[in-house]
Amino acid sequence: MTARDSTEPRVRLAAEDWIAADRRHVWHPYTQMKTAPAPLAIARGEGAYLIAADGRRILDAISSWWVNIHGHAHPRLNAALAEQAGRLEHVLFAGCAHEPAARLAEELSRRAPAGLERVFYSDDGSTAVEVALKMAWQSWRNRGDTRRDLFVALAHGYHGDTFGAMAVGGVASFHAVFAPLFCAVRRAHAPRCFEEPGVAEGSPCSQGCSGTVEEILEREGERVAAVLVEPMVQGAGGMLVQPPEFLRGVRAATLRHGVPLIADEVFTGFGRTGRMFACEHAGVAPDLLCVSKALTGGYLPLAATLATEAIYEAFLSDARGRALLHGHSFTANPLACAVALESLRIFDEERCLERVGVLERRFAPALAALAEHPAVAAVRGLGAIAAVELRPRGTAGYLSELGPWLYGRFLARDLLLRPLGDVIYFLPPYMIDDADVDRVFTAIGAVLGELENGFA
Ligand SMILES: Cc1ncc(COP(=O)(O)O)c(C=O)c1O
Repeated sequence: MTARDSTEPRVRLAAEDWIAADRRHVWHPYTQMKTAPAPLAIARGEGAYLIAADGRRILDAISSWWVNIHGHAHPRLNAALAEQAGRLEHVLFAGCAHEPAARLAEELSRRAPAGLERVFYSDDGSTAVEVALKMAWQSWRNRGDTRRDLFVALAHGYHGDTFGAMAVGGVASFHAVFAPLFCAVRRAHAPRCFEEPGVAEGSPCSQGCSGTVEEILEREGERVAAVLVEPMVQGAGGMLVQPPEFLRGVRAATLRHGVPLIADEVFTGFGRTGRMFACEHAGVAPDLLCVSKALTGGYLPLAATLATEAIYEAFLSDARGRALLHGHSFTANPLACAVALESLRIFDEERCLERVGVLERRFAPALAALAEHPAVAAVRGLGAIAAVELRPRGTAGYLSELGPWLYGRFLARDLLLRPLGDVIYFLPPYMIDDADVDRVFTAIGAVLGELENGFA
């Protein structure tokens, strides 16, 4: 046996063996390991499909946690990855630079809302948010203002699972157990237009929804380090779509009070809402912008926090301690940056924004039909996002038993849909076939029919 052979059995396990290894050793995210069913054993990806170890072809109808926009195992992304791996797989990013990170920073700042010229890399959505919070917090202190000890964030918001991101998050069922460890956050109202009689989604926000942000800033503005929002759609909070007037109102309030606005576009960025960035729907340019998820087309963990020159300049000093002393081992990983650049090229060449517009128009009548179903409380859509909220809503929220039941019913139809409690959402890669779109809406209707008979 050669030295190479001696290592091979460990990596060349048959499917049953690796599934057993998973059961024995792996602790899965967002999973009650005692009661959850066995995880889906996925062997391969192919376009909008995941191929299970037992050969089933399962439609990835949620883009693998909202990251995949061009489909799985995309030949061009594979080639970009291999090409970069042959050149430079990784190098530390403090004191070193490389072409993929430089070119990607240039591309991101060119595509982002105006004024976001500086790009700080990190690893995932949560760390992009941590970096934004730290930038806002320290920029005040670097300028000599030590009064800023609060953040303002929205009800129903979700920004990730690290401590700063959890603190600003507004979905109690995710993070309440850690609440004693959080920094100070004031919670502002977020629009749920579908619950407010007479206020249609997307209509001028007659309820003055952004008013509580304004009120907090009136009252405590001199203590606020930054206001943080998920622009246009609060994803994990239940795919809650906002009217653009809300974001415009929040932006106007932050400008009046001289407080930075952080737009968390980790979910909404890269076309998901029908614009490159959701802020564009409202014509808003934030001071800090967080991106991740679809940045690499769903291939590799990479994130970026984009900042204005004014925030960047607050860190320039002869004192080294005024620098942003933040970084990760894999900051600006060249493989991830090269794949992100190729993903953006595909985005342009395959006219992804137009495709998202087509999807939005195909979703609209299907959502309208589902809205008539007696089990449905509300439907919501924007870009390549479709959501169906069931009655009764708001009881156990994310931890509603309905979620796992629905998941199982969809999986029985070879569809990977993973409802957020009683909110079913469909969020496909942009290249999904029209026939598959129709199949998903038909399946949602059929599962609602089953729901009528009660769920076990
Ligand atoms: C708006 C938003 N921000 C941040 C995050 C956290 O991203 P990650 O899971 O990559 O840490 C998410 C994840 O769903 C998100 O939707």
